[in-house]
Amino acid sequence: MELLEAITSRRSIRAFLPTPVPRATIERILDIARHCPSGSNMQPWQVHVVTGAVRERLIERALAWAGEHPIGSNPHPLRGDPSGFVKPYKQRRFDCGMALYEALGIDRRDKPARELQRWRNFDFFDAPVGLFFSIHRSLLPGQLGDLGMFMAHVMLAAREFGLDTCAQGFWQDVAPAVHEVLDIDPEFHIYNGMALGHRDPDHPANGFELPREPVAGFARFLGFATDA
Ligand SMILES: Cc1cc2nc3c(=O)[nH]c(=O)nc-3n(C[C@H](O)[C@H](O)[C@H](O)COP(=O)(O)O)c2cc1C
Repeated sequence: MELLEAITSRRSIRAFLPTPVPRATIERILDIARHCPSGSNMQPWQVHVVTGAVRERLIERALAWAGEHPIGSNPHPLRGDPSGFVKPYKQRRFDCGMALYEALGIDRRDKPARELQRWRNFDFFDAPVGLFFSIHRSLLPGQLGDLGMFMAHVMLAAREFGLDTCAQGFWQDVAPAVHEVLDIDPEFHIYNGMALGHRDPDHPANGFELPREPVAGFARFLGFATDA
């Protein structure tokens, strides 16, 4: 797949087929992604890849943990407080949720249905593989951008193998359970999870596309001789 096609065809997929993904393919994806740049080449990414029984155990423990701890009980300083988000980000965030609910036929006032959809994150939207991206706490927040870029490399490399992904900041909410089950060093901060697998092309959760601002909306060109 051409790089530009990989970039433009990537979507956050929220319904996967049960088709397994071979370990060799995931290793190849990570082998490509490791070419990602990073500040002073520190390569601050640590990745845990789960499938099968470990994936099941993780889901079970994370669900139990979430049952014992109210939402927000695992706050961390790196995530912004949505109540303080300003325009236009607040609106875009709202529109993003609404697009998903509309695709799934969920009424925006139906809080339990919305919550149920959020909980689909727990089983990686049925993806057979879950990845966790963590970073040593001593590198925060400075190198977080490196980790984000690395995740983008993984997402795009996955497209080459006909695979899809969904980044999952969701897992930050239940990070203690992830630390526990995957035995992740407490010195490492779990930044994001990611679902990986084959998209279900017929599922309505995958049937919408979110708009993007045109270049003129976010870029300024300075010092160019002409407008052309
Ligand atoms: C860092 C990051 C974390 C995300 N966390 C979640 C998540 O927890 N659950 C989810 O359903 N989508 C999550 N997303 C997906 C975004 O909602 C999605 O990228 C955005 O709406 C744009 O849609 P697109 O990826 O289909 O282009 C996340 C995306 C990023 C980049």
